[in-house]
Amino acid sequence: MTDKHTDEGQGRYPEPKYDDADSSLAGVRASRRQFIKGVIASGAAVTSAGALISCSPGGGDVSVGGVERMVRLMVNGVERTVDVLPNETLAMTLRYKLNLTGTKLGCDRGECGACTVLVDGVSSYSCSMLTHSVRSQEIMTIEGLESADGTLHPVQQALIDELGPQCGFCTPGQVMSAVALLRVNPNPTRDQVRMALSGNLCRCGAYDNYTNAVMRAAQGAA
Ligand code: FES
Ligand code: FES
Repeated sequence: MTDKHTDEGQGRYPEPKYDDADSSLAGVRASRRQFIKGVIASGAAVTSAGALISCSPGGGDVSVGGVERMVRLMVNGVERTVDVLPNETLAMTLRYKLNLTGTKLGCDRGECGACTVLVDGVSSYSCSMLTHSVRSQEIMTIEGLESADGTLHPVQQALIDELGPQCGFCTPGQVMSAVALLRVNPNPTRDQVRMALSGNLCRCGAYDNYTNAVMRAAQGAA
């Protein structure tokens, strides 16, 4: 189980900056917004210093390190070839072999939702499924939401606008669950949003912030 306090993705969030000793409230809010923007976009920005094995898109540079078979995975629209152990979970493959550390590991046993990704569009706990079981499916992680031109997904942008996350550890999972919801229900009620995010625990208790953000994103999409 990964120690969330030493998670490499956490350590790379930009520090909040305050303009000067007598910063106005507006300045503080701007700094916090900047911080949250870093959290939301972290999936695309981080790299894993602790990665055990790395693979390039297309599978042309696969390091030898496992003892089992090579599998092809479709992750964020790119085919990746990776050496996967028989008992390896998708979360481990994503984080430690594909360097997609936006997907977090909290409980590592299907309770917290930090590891949520989309598998064929359905929000799924990647810590609780074997990588071999998703070989023929489309996997999307938080890193796959941002457009090629850098535009954030409406849910990501809404979380920034609502100053949604606190520590940010649960945020990628929350975002992926919200994206899954809005794909099938672009105009949800607050209760439907709460239900969709009910599998994502937030130790900071930012549930209302997340709900507000998803409602904002839905209104923008409607
Ligand atoms: S890490 Fe907690 S549900 Fe997967
Ligand atoms: S924002 Fe800290 S755990 Fe959710």
